[in-house]
Amino acid sequence: MKRIGIIGAMDIEVKELISSMVDIKKETISSIDFYEGKLEGNNVVVAECGIGKVYAAVCAQTMILKYEPDLVINTGVAGSLSIDLDIADIVISDGVVQHDYDASPIGIPAGMISEINLIKLPCNEELVKKLVKAAEILKETNIAVGTIASGDQFICSKEKKDYIANTFDALCTEMEGAAIGHVCYINNVDFCIIRAISDRADGAAHMDFDTFVEIAVEKTIMLVNNFLKQESAL
Ligand code: ADE
Repeated sequence: MKRIGIIGAMDIEVKELISSMVDIKKETISSIDFYEGKLEGNNVVVAECGIGKVYAAVCAQTMILKYEPDLVINTGVAGSLSIDLDIADIVISDGVVQHDYDASPIGIPAGMISEINLIKLPCNEELVKKLVKAAEILKETNIAVGTIASGDQFICSKEKKDYIANTFDALCTEMEGAAIGHVCYINNVDFCIIRAISDRADGAAHMDFDTFVEIAVEKTIMLVNNFLKQESAL
């Protein structure tokens, strides 16, 4: 049976998954809590990594070395970069970019990852398809597949939002997914990011985030649970 890694940055993004797990074993490594056990009939390891790319990368690398997941899913909320994506809509990544990875002053295109020489790191197509299928459980929810942009910044201005949207053609922005994708890519582990929109990454984003984070998280939990059900039925 496959082992599925699930990473969320904040307690609210993973606590419902952890509370539904059975045969649970907790271990804290480098200040990050890892929960190994069973969920919806699958072997899973769920981690709460903390906010930002460094925590996310440490978490993903530790998870891969210690628990050897066959695939890693990053779940959580994001700010919308698209007029077509509103609160509680879902984005499933087909690839990830780091919007704050920028060596353009020395002639390297913004976002181009050293050694890999790619700006957008691709997700496994089969995994994306499975997650899109799992998302069918979400009624009256707009589901989009595309680029997710990550950086160590909570985006809450039109200027930064437009820069990220226009430079990387990204649908939403958050603070961990591309770091997890980067780590998975260099370790040859399949990955995908699932995000529900909690705000529009604009001047009201900090207030909208507080208001809508719970509603958005509920959607991602339903999606992840349905994906796990699908996997256990294979
Ligand atoms: N996560 C949720 N909303 C976000 C935003 N506006 N910027 C960065 N990360 C986010």
